[in-house]
Amino acid sequence: MNQQQLLELDQAIRHWLKGLDDIIPNLIADMHTETKLNKFDLVTNVDRMIQDQFEAFINEHYPDHQLFGEEKNNDLVDAKHGDVWVMDPIDGTANLVKQKTDYCIILSYFSEGEPLLAYIYDYPHHTLYKAIKGEGAFENEVRMPKVAPLHINDAILSYNLYVINEQTQADLKNAAFSYRLIGSCGLDSLRVMKGQFGAHINTNAKPWDISAQFLFSEELGLKMTNLKNEPIDFALGGPFIISNPGCHEAVLEILNRDGGYEVNKNS
Ligand code: IPD
Ligand code: CA
Ligand code: CA
Repeated sequence: MNQQQLLELDQAIRHWLKGLDDIIPNLIADMHTETKLNKFDLVTNVDRMIQDQFEAFINEHYPDHQLFGEEKNNDLVDAKHGDVWVMDPIDGTANLVKQKTDYCIILSYFSEGEPLLAYIYDYPHHTLYKAIKGEGAFENEVRMPKVAPLHINDAILSYNLYVINEQTQADLKNAAFSYRLIGSCGLDSLRVMKGQFGAHINTNAKPWDISAQFLFSEELGLKMTNLKNEPIDFALGGPFIISNPGCHEAVLEILNRDGGYEVNKNS
């Protein structure tokens, strides 16, 4: 795909995403929630309908493309080959259900395993963030600046307290300026992209939680690795950090100190 075709694809996808403004209010007005693996693992008609509509859209306009989506079976998807869309139709479903805010739609396009387009739609604020390979990252079409380096002492760090042991939590709190968690991997990551947070950590990220962050990190000069400072396989996910370059190593040093961050690491 040449750059002109990529820009045309971006235009079509942005148009589709903005079309969600017409359907989401009705879906929310009639929201039903189901649990999946446990009582915290939620899915609603909003999640399912957004993904179904996107699947119908690509089947109609891009029939050769594959969809690797949270709310479907992906056994037949070959994520590393061809044209692949990775979708989290609602990231932060618990926030949607409990707070009616702080959720987003994450969508990314990979060609032969390379991220070329990435979107995070902060629907409650009607703000669309996108990254285009080689063109940069944009907030509602306004170019996002690269973040200024942030020392860990000045950084807000974001992570899930339930999955980090008390010693590591204490070390992170001592080293950092403060702690915050929104509860949507996409929106927590966006705070890092905008220079508001120093880093966001998800110890068990799924491919759809982090698909857009690869290209945003590349275009904005952020660090995105696993918690051993190695590259992440986008088709597998796993432990994940997106970080300001000024504090990435310091955060990883604390997470890996004295046997690591895991809860019950010796049991
Ligand atoms: C979840 C959110 C949450 C993160 C979980 C994700 P979902 O996504 O991003 O912040 O801690 O790991 O599963 O289930 O709301 O799409
Ligand atoms: Ca998610
Ligand atoms: Ca989801």
